[in-house]
Amino acid sequence: ALISMRQMLDHAAEHGYGIPAFNVNNLEQMRAIMEAADETDSPVIIQASAGARKYAGAPFLRHLILAAVEEFPHIPVAMHQDHGTSPGVCQRSIQLGFSSVMMDGSLGEDGKTPASYDYNVEVTRRTVEMAHACGVSVEGELGCLGSLETGMAGEEDGVGAAGKLDHDQLLTDPEEAAEFVKATHVDALAIAIGTSHGAYKFTRPPTGDTLSIQRIKEIHARIPETHLVMHGSSSVPQEWLEMINEHGGEIPETYGVPVEEIVEGIRHGVRKVNVDTDLRLASTAAVRRFLAENPAEFDPRKFLKASTAAMKGVCKARYEAFGAAGNA
Ligand code: G3H
Ligand code: 13P
Ligand code: NA
Ligand code: ZN
Repeated sequence: ALISMRQMLDHAAEHGYGIPAFNVNNLEQMRAIMEAADETDSPVIIQASAGARKYAGAPFLRHLILAAVEEFPHIPVAMHQDHGTSPGVCQRSIQLGFSSVMMDGSLGEDGKTPASYDYNVEVTRRTVEMAHACGVSVEGELGCLGSLETGMAGEEDGVGAAGKLDHDQLLTDPEEAAEFVKATHVDALAIAIGTSHGAYKFTRPPTGDTLSIQRIKEIHARIPETHLVMHGSSSVPQEWLEMINEHGGEIPETYGVPVEEIVEGIRHGVRKVNVDTDLRLASTAAVRRFLAENPAEFDPRKFLKASTAAMKGVCKARYEAFGAAGNA
């Protein structure tokens, strides 16, 4: 059944676990997420970005999610809009049937340029007012997401519009977080604690301190009722990179956030963990290998099945590691 994200995260907080929020764009990701949730008995957060709506088209995306609810009626599903760039964007998603929206006012309407605190409060407050009237949950974001190692926001070209960020810009201020929640009444808050989007988070193998666990603790202590969200939570498993590169790919050396560090974050208040890149890597690795090993094959269902299986494996592993398994 479709439920609100607030309800789902309240349960996660009460029982001390985290829920992976996977991005969806197509049928294969949808199947992977739902079959993994079914097999591990996990609640599901499906999120769609503006890019996903552009790729699949809003009606297809909406019906893909509704189809998931229809086929797996016993699994609770939250349908979340990822990184909305304005209250208008969030409003259109609510009209489309989403049960949760993210108003990312940490960036301007271009989705790139860091915005002022006052702008962030204003657009987020307006979104909450509208969403809560419809029973829809809201996630806000405070701080500039960026790698503590590289200082980069992790956009595709490796150079965000913000350029290289300073260390204190990369960590959400706990006092400001408390003020922000008081002013906006968001249900969940995405915080900057050292992660960045995409595959290029860290240039060196992690040594256990990619995240600022200390900062998570400080923020959680001030806003215990607000569910903390960790964006940029892909682990960039080396096995997928190797499989891609062994079959014609050319992905340079790169590292993500170790699962154990995310689990530590969950221990200190993180409830929603956004994962997109890991499913992209798994899918590409599986497809590259399948086509390399079966050069005469041309039925797309064959390589897409390999894609689904690889992504499903990642989903199951995250449901289990984050403690969501057994909580559907
Ligand atoms: O936060 C970004 C997500 O990974 C979605 O990426 O905008 O390419 O769909 P996208
Ligand atoms: P990754 O790029 O680390 O998977 O992060 C995804 C994300 O934060 C989506 O909002
Ligand atoms: Na989001
Ligand atoms: Zn994100």
